[in-house]
Amino acid sequence: MSTKIQTLSGYYHEYQKSVLQPEEFWTRVADTFHWKKRWDKTLEWDFEGPDVKWFVNGKLNITENILDRHLFTKGDDTAIIWEPNEPNEPHLEITYRELYERVCQFSNAMKAKGIGKGDRVIIYMPMVPEAAVAMLACARIGAVHSVVFAGFSSTSLADRINDCQAKAVLTSDGNFRGAKKIPVKAVVDEALESCESIETVFVLKRTDTDVTMTEGRDVWWHEAVDGQSTDCKAEEMDSEDMLFILYTSGSTGKPKGVVHTCGGYMIYTYYSFMNVFQYNQGDIYWCTADVGWITGHSYIVYGPLLAGATTVMFEGVPTYPNPSRFWEVVDKFKVNQFYTAPTAIRALQAYGLEPVEKYSLESLKVIGSVGEPINEEAWHWYHDHIGKGNCPLVDTWWQTETGGIMISAIAGVTPNKPAHASLPLPGIQPIIVDAEGKELTGNNVEGSLCVKFPWPSILRTTYGDHERCKQTYFSTYPGLYFTGDGAKRDHDGYIRILGRVDDVINVSGHRMGTAEVENAINEHPKVVESAVVGYPHDVKGQGIYAYAICDMEGRTEENLIQEIKQTVRNIIGPIATPDKVQVVSGLPKTRSGKIMRRILRKVAEGDISNLGDTSTLLNPEIVDELTKHINK
Ligand code: WT7
Repeated sequence: MSTKIQTLSGYYHEYQKSVLQPEEFWTRVADTFHWKKRWDKTLEWDFEGPDVKWFVNGKLNITENILDRHLFTKGDDTAIIWEPNEPNEPHLEITYRELYERVCQFSNAMKAKGIGKGDRVIIYMPMVPEAAVAMLACARIGAVHSVVFAGFSSTSLADRINDCQAKAVLTSDGNFRGAKKIPVKAVVDEALESCESIETVFVLKRTDTDVTMTEGRDVWWHEAVDGQSTDCKAEEMDSEDMLFILYTSGSTGKPKGVVHTCGGYMIYTYYSFMNVFQYNQGDIYWCTADVGWITGHSYIVYGPLLAGATTVMFEGVPTYPNPSRFWEVVDKFKVNQFYTAPTAIRALQAYGLEPVEKYSLESLKVIGSVGEPINEEAWHWYHDHIGKGNCPLVDTWWQTETGGIMISAIAGVTPNKPAHASLPLPGIQPIIVDAEGKELTGNNVEGSLCVKFPWPSILRTTYGDHERCKQTYFSTYPGLYFTGDGAKRDHDGYIRILGRVDDVINVSGHRMGTAEVENAINEHPKVVESAVVGYPHDVKGQGIYAYAICDMEGRTEENLIQEIKQTVRNIIGPIATPDKVQVVSGLPKTRSGKIMRRILRKVAEGDISNLGDTSTLLNPEIVDELTKHINK
């Protein structure tokens, strides 16, 4: 039975049903999957705990639904098209049967190293098919994967390994990224100096970079799979067993491990993929994200492969060897659905139309956006020049914690409106609340975005710290899931996401906690105190602006600024590097010692016309110093 929505009235009908009878609604979707044992109860929940369980006591293995189920009907169809970093290196097309065999072989290789159900496995890899194979192999044997974006530093990697006490790391000798060759194995080695839980490191040969292999711990990927059987029994998993952990930044402390479980995640990523992108069998679908982020999990690997789709995986970057790369690949594979981030669009837009016009792009049917609010200018450029004015543009709002797309147009079915995520998918009940948590009904309202009813792929906990999950998402407005975003419902009833209302910065679609960056800056021996805020950035959406109080002895300001940037790169990774660092003698504080971030944000924006009342500050004189450079 098809669960694909095809008309606007069909959408309203399904939406109604999903709200009035959520259990029946999701049962119908879940029944299209293969279960080893059907569930007893569709949903149990309370948002106080929080405690959410979907498909209670159901038994399944997600990879049987991705691989075994498709073997007979589409064994020879292409599951993954892999496009390498270098345009002249041959691409790969991997069928569902080959994917099944590769996953089974690697599953057996991991089992041979004593890795099994419940063990945590870190994946720190480039965008190569083996990254998807690794994720699926973990899922097959019931191990819990935690993919760490390969741009993170050794410290960030070590923190994640230690937090989940992982048993193995899967990595490569090196990664190609544009013109660069990054020696990732060396980063892993450095991280492992402060990790005791790791027993095995699987190393994929990709760049032929020299690496040190630690005897008894490190094994070459190709040697580990050599001779392994191409069949491997799928472990029986409970619906609520962990499928993966993905670390993400928040407004406080270190990144937290968002936990997703097997049953609900499977149902929702499939359902949202099929509907939002209106995927038809045979279509070629391409999401340009990295598997290190949730988008790569849900909409490169799990959602599309559950749907039996052909999913493109791209190793490189949008501007290498030139800013035509995306469009060249679209034409090369005749991509039908293309899903990328506003930051990529803005970066490419800056090169003008010449790189676009060399390609026809006529295969495109649907284009999508994810990760941050898409400004109207980028929306129109994307819609007019990439979609040629006749592809629906789906602006998909969701989060690591939501597992799948929550608010978005359904391509060609529900209207799309520039810069508006628009309408919730069936099963999703978002509300906008005021500061007291009161629901704001009707149109033309603005407030905090919450969700009042569980959906199948909601996060279940934060790994090892359930209290933190409760505090972060379920305590601000008791009884509601709080997203951290502000939103507006406009006069037509469409939702527009206004951005974060907490201390989280969205840099090129990636979340950075201000506290996390401050902690990194404070590691510099000359830094006394720091404060970090976001500011509008033409390409990245938001840039990182750091204020630092420093002991200047023996340093020039310029040196210090460079050193501070380098410190952050080393501790977190290049994506967290502050765009601007201002050395200051003090920070604006209230009498109770709280930093007035509002003032820092204004100064970072370069807008000092409206700083508000600064006379109540403990140190009002600091404002003049902060703004001096703006008047220059
Ligand atoms: C935050 C979640 C969802 C996968 C990528 C990011 C922002 C995401 C949109 C959108 C406006 C968006 C929100 C959200 N965001 N998509 N279409 N319009 N804002 O995942 O790292 O978990 O970040 O990204 O602020 O809370 P993430």
